[in-house]
Amino acid sequence: MGNPVIPTIRDIEGLRTQVRAWRSQGLRIGFVPTMGALHDGHITLVRTAKQRCDRVVVSIFVNPTQFGPNEDFDAYPRTEEADLEKLASAHADLAYLPTVAIMYPPGASTMVNVTGLTEGLCGAARPGHFQGVTTVVTKLLLQVLPDAAFFGEKDYQQLKTIARMARDLDIPTEIVGVPTVREADGLALSSRNVYLTPSQRQQALATPRTLNAVAARLADGSDAGPHLAWGQAELLRGGFDSVDYLELCDAEDLTPLAHIGGRPARLIVAARIGKTRLLDNIAVG
Ligand code: PAJ
Repeated sequence: MGNPVIPTIRDIEGLRTQVRAWRSQGLRIGFVPTMGALHDGHITLVRTAKQRCDRVVVSIFVNPTQFGPNEDFDAYPRTEEADLEKLASAHADLAYLPTVAIMYPPGASTMVNVTGLTEGLCGAARPGHFQGVTTVVTKLLLQVLPDAAFFGEKDYQQLKTIARMARDLDIPTEIVGVPTVREADGLALSSRNVYLTPSQRQQALATPRTLNAVAARLADGSDAGPHLAWGQAELLRGGFDSVDYLELCDAEDLTPLAHIGGRPARLIVAARIGKTRLLDNIAVG
């Protein structure tokens, strides 16, 4: 038996025809949007979708509108052939790979913007980023029209923003969050980990280590400020060049918290090592 293959579609009409055929058979459609360079985190989203749906569509599209002018859009890893093999092995049913011209035809001038939730954390460090994400995810959801769409908790602010957007715009898709997949040593899987040199890869472990240490210090409900300052210093001591933020937030609306209390909270970090920006978070409280 040869390697498994996965059908690929690059245009909206072809996508709609396939999804319509499945829907007319009464099948439940799951959708996993990605930017490719697939790793076990993405594949876990596909497997979760497969468990909860009859057919799973995965998109691969490196979305230019969510990258800032000095960010890594051109350098972003593009590994289409390997990605398609991984998707076939995970039993995804269809790979959707639109071009930039299909997603943003000349004259495209409509953007989707979620206020509030997108203003702090990564929104403050990456102006325009979330508007690019919410615009492309709205378009993808309207193209695929899935029953459920799957997003990683790894990008926690993105997950919460997309859930809010789907609710506010009455998009009839269930938004499902999937826990972060980590390497055996604790580093969260990320397409950007390939940028790390072997020594930076070791230093990057300061993110999960610091998140866990700060969470332990916060457990008694004490004032978060000094513990967050300690955590930032710990990341720099561990080899990070700068810390965009390390914050304790309400797990639902992402407002900053002064200490953990009755409500679920999230400890979220973004920090830079060389040119690579790493993101991680854990539940606390
Ligand atoms: P990308 O970074 O490719 O991630 C695609 C999905 O995989 C996102 O939902 C992300 O949270 C999830 N993911 C990444 N690493 C993960 C990990 N270690 N464990 C679990 N899930 C993980 O996020 C994007 O693409 C884009 O912003 C996108 C939503 C596709 C819009 O362009």
